[in-house]
Amino acid sequence: MEDVRIDPWNSDQSTDYDLLAEKFGLDSIDMNQIQNPGILHTRGLVFAQRDMDVVLQAAKNNAPFGVLTGLMPSGRMHLGHTMVIEQAKWYQSQGADVSVAVADLESLATRGVSLEKGREIALEQYVSNYAAMGLDPDKTQVYFQSTRPEVQRLGFRLGRRTNLSELGAIYGFEGDTNLAHVQAPLVQVGDIVHPMLDEYGGIRPIVVPVGVDQDPHIRLTRDIVSKTQWFNIKKQKNGGLLISLSLQPENSAIFGVSENGRIDRKARIAMFTTVEETVRNLGFADVNTNPKHGTMMIPAATRYDAIRIRSELSHLEREWGGLGLTAPSSSYHRFAMGLTGGKMSSSKPETTIFLNDTMDAIRTKIKKAHSGGKTTIEEHRRYGGDITVDVAYQYLRFFFESDDVELGRIAEEYQSGRILAGEMKKLCIDRAEEWLLTLKEKREQWSDKLQEFLADDAI
Ligand code: TRP
Repeated sequence: MEDVRIDPWNSDQSTDYDLLAEKFGLDSIDMNQIQNPGILHTRGLVFAQRDMDVVLQAAKNNAPFGVLTGLMPSGRMHLGHTMVIEQAKWYQSQGADVSVAVADLESLATRGVSLEKGREIALEQYVSNYAAMGLDPDKTQVYFQSTRPEVQRLGFRLGRRTNLSELGAIYGFEGDTNLAHVQAPLVQVGDIVHPMLDEYGGIRPIVVPVGVDQDPHIRLTRDIVSKTQWFNIKKQKNGGLLISLSLQPENSAIFGVSENGRIDRKARIAMFTTVEETVRNLGFADVNTNPKHGTMMIPAATRYDAIRIRSELSHLEREWGGLGLTAPSSSYHRFAMGLTGGKMSSSKPETTIFLNDTMDAIRTKIKKAHSGGKTTIEEHRRYGGDITVDVAYQYLRFFFESDDVELGRIAEEYQSGRILAGEMKKLCIDRAEEWLLTLKEKREQWSDKLQEFLADDAI
């Protein structure tokens, strides 16, 4: 897993992000598609996605959709961890229900943290801050991997759809890789897809907001899901969509594949009649079915239709005994730089601000932070500061200044030399104190009511 971790701050950031997006095949964010952009979007903090249009479409149609995110209960929550929650909050404001996986099994397997300790850390360090940050308890369900057997079962069941070579290719595993690193991603696949089960909200789009270093998990999940699907839907070069059957032992009876491998025409045609009817009900008069080849062409269908067709086919698949899963969508946020100018890391306390740091510690840390100011005041007044490497400015941008106009003013005055480096730090300290004090107060208000965020199986 360490192999695929990225370090965007050690070289030019924008190119690195572009490279990364290209390497992993991420798509960019189309601002025209985002109806009510938040600062995550206006500031380019969320910079890439996979299939985000699927959830945006649901939001637009007031149709149900969900967010699945997770936390590793080890260590203290710091600023870097807030980005995912900001993303979840935004989706929630657009109508999403939010599920939060406490990865206590992962923490047990990969770090030796006991389940009891994991629970304590999850509640004290993370859930309390999620509450304070303003997640809506009525639309948030925190659960534990260890007490949700459906998640674990899915991990086992879906493990059949991958193998060591694929995990090796994705995560860079070698012969001496601890098997905890094989188990954990499989349970996590269970986390990501289980909200689509009937007991957990049923078939609906699910989006996983993550930092870009977590994309390997998303790729693994999407690949496994696609292997379980009974129907493939492909865009055709000359327009239209082609549905083709994915024959699997589980669907041979329904798909009319006899034990000797021959096609049972009656069963095959009966099945296609149902699929045709489903597609026609979506408004497509023109469909061209070839039962023998197991294909169905819909010439007038577009990418947008593919989303609706996938959802209908998932329902059919589930009725017929399949899982009926849809590949999760994902959106990726940038990482704020560490206080010292390099990477932010929980194992190096001087690189980040923990949400329960004392005000003194926070002031000291920001005062010492890497600055984009010039070496002398004269030079600074003449040439201005560099906001791209100035931690104080970047923390205002990522965390503490919610007003785009005010942030723009600060940037402009810094770059033109009117604001000095020390003054920028002072601004950051003031806003940080305000932000963290409010957070602390809210944390205290929620302290004896955290169970409002917990799922029934988590209490
Ligand atoms: N592996 C994640 C981490 O190390 C935690 C996690 C578990 C998670 N399940 C998840 C994150 C599902 C996102 C989605 O932080």
